[in-house]
Amino acid sequence: MAENEILNVQLFGEEIGRVGLSRDETKSSFQYNPAFLEDNTLQNIFPLTGIIKKTKYVQLFSQFEGETFKGIPPQFADSLPDMFGSIIFKAWLESKGQSTISVLEQLAYVGCRGMGAIEYIPALRIPENDTIDLNEIVEVLKEVLDLKRSTKQKKLDAQALINIFKIGTSAGGARPKILISQHLESGRIIPGDLEISDKYNHYLVKLAIDEEDQYPREIVEYCYYLISQNLGIKMMDSKLIENKHFATLRFDRQDGEKKHVLTASGMTGWDYKHSTHSSYEDLFKLCSFLKIPHAQMEELFKRMVFNVVYCNTDDHLKNHSFIFDRVNDSWGLSPAYDVTFALNPLLNFKNQKRALSINGKRSGILLKDIRKLAEEYTIKNPEGVVKEVQSQREVLLKHFDEYNVPKMVSESISNQINKLI
Ligand SMILES: Nc1ncnc2c1ncn2[C@@H]1O[C@H](COP(=O)(O)OP(=O)(O)OP(=O)(O)O)[C@@H](O)[C@H]1O
Ligand SMILES: [Mg+2]
Repeated sequence: MAENEILNVQLFGEEIGRVGLSRDETKSSFQYNPAFLEDNTLQNIFPLTGIIKKTKYVQLFSQFEGETFKGIPPQFADSLPDMFGSIIFKAWLESKGQSTISVLEQLAYVGCRGMGAIEYIPALRIPENDTIDLNEIVEVLKEVLDLKRSTKQKKLDAQALINIFKIGTSAGGARPKILISQHLESGRIIPGDLEISDKYNHYLVKLAIDEEDQYPREIVEYCYYLISQNLGIKMMDSKLIENKHFATLRFDRQDGEKKHVLTASGMTGWDYKHSTHSSYEDLFKLCSFLKIPHAQMEELFKRMVFNVVYCNTDDHLKNHSFIFDRVNDSWGLSPAYDVTFALNPLLNFKNQKRALSINGKRSGILLKDIRKLAEEYTIKNPEGVVKEVQSQREVLLKHFDEYNVPKMVSESISNQINKLI
């Protein structure tokens, strides 16, 4: 696909530059569009964290080879599918009789459908379809995720697969999810890539696929969302669909427009699968560097305490994001997401390790570790925050009852809630 070895990168309808990748996918390049640099309005779309510099010259990158960034600058790697999206991508390719695809071609398929506001041109066209049947999607996904057989043997309906490909490959993460839009008045649900306007609510939906699973992950995530709200942790409004799928409004689609967002990993090039920069201290340092208001640092502190108390150990660098304020050319903390009990509570995980360390520790976090970080970043009254967060324990267990979370799950989570002494 020679013409796509270089892609134009657009933001808010303007060409900001071009990204290129060597054939062996080890080296990439980015060059700003000089006209964009000269125009002084948006100077901070890629903060100067040591990756993309503000220069009109071609910049070369050889440090991003591998699984996490796939050779390209992390700001663009953020647009690529993670585990779930990649499975769907593979199924879609197999159904077309194709087996491999280059990274830039994947970005071209992301085109204008990606999370956030970055767009890749020329975008590859995918057949249009404007209706969504959630049950049908779940059925097809069950087939796709049955990894034992190849997609060809599964006789998947091509149209259903196209639908899933379009709405299931953009969002990152490991779990099955799709992007949909729901009309505010008629309630009609359409694929999430068709329309961006304030006539629709734009949702990311985490689907409950496995009916036999005794751990209703999506319901537990919803109960976590409910207590986060009580604690004033900022999250997008969320709901359960059909009492089982977790739907959360997208923070990258608000006020009828696209918002530019980057994960902490995409902004810095810190590999979320490696331990080098995987600490809350790194995250706080990044916030200071971005000149994030102190109130948001306090909020991050509360999120951290919440994650420790309620065992959200999978709070890695792609589970924290930043959102760009186009008017002020500045960055803020995005709403929290993926806030849930991280591992299956019905399985006995020994030596659970946190993705982000605190005071150099990935397990056995104590109040004194939290206090130390609070001191370093002048966060007031850490003990008060811990108490406040812990006060929601009973409320969480009540929600579990209310939403029929099996007793075994509820008890297991209850027993693991951290007392932080
Ligand atoms: N409300 C939201 N608005 C916009 N983007 C979101 C929202 N929630 C999640 N995302 C994006 O979608 C990605 C996947 O979501 P999420 O982390 O909840 O899924 P997951 O499959 O549970 O992830 P993981 O692999 O970390 O377990 C996130 O990394 C984030 O970039
Ligand atoms: Mg996640």
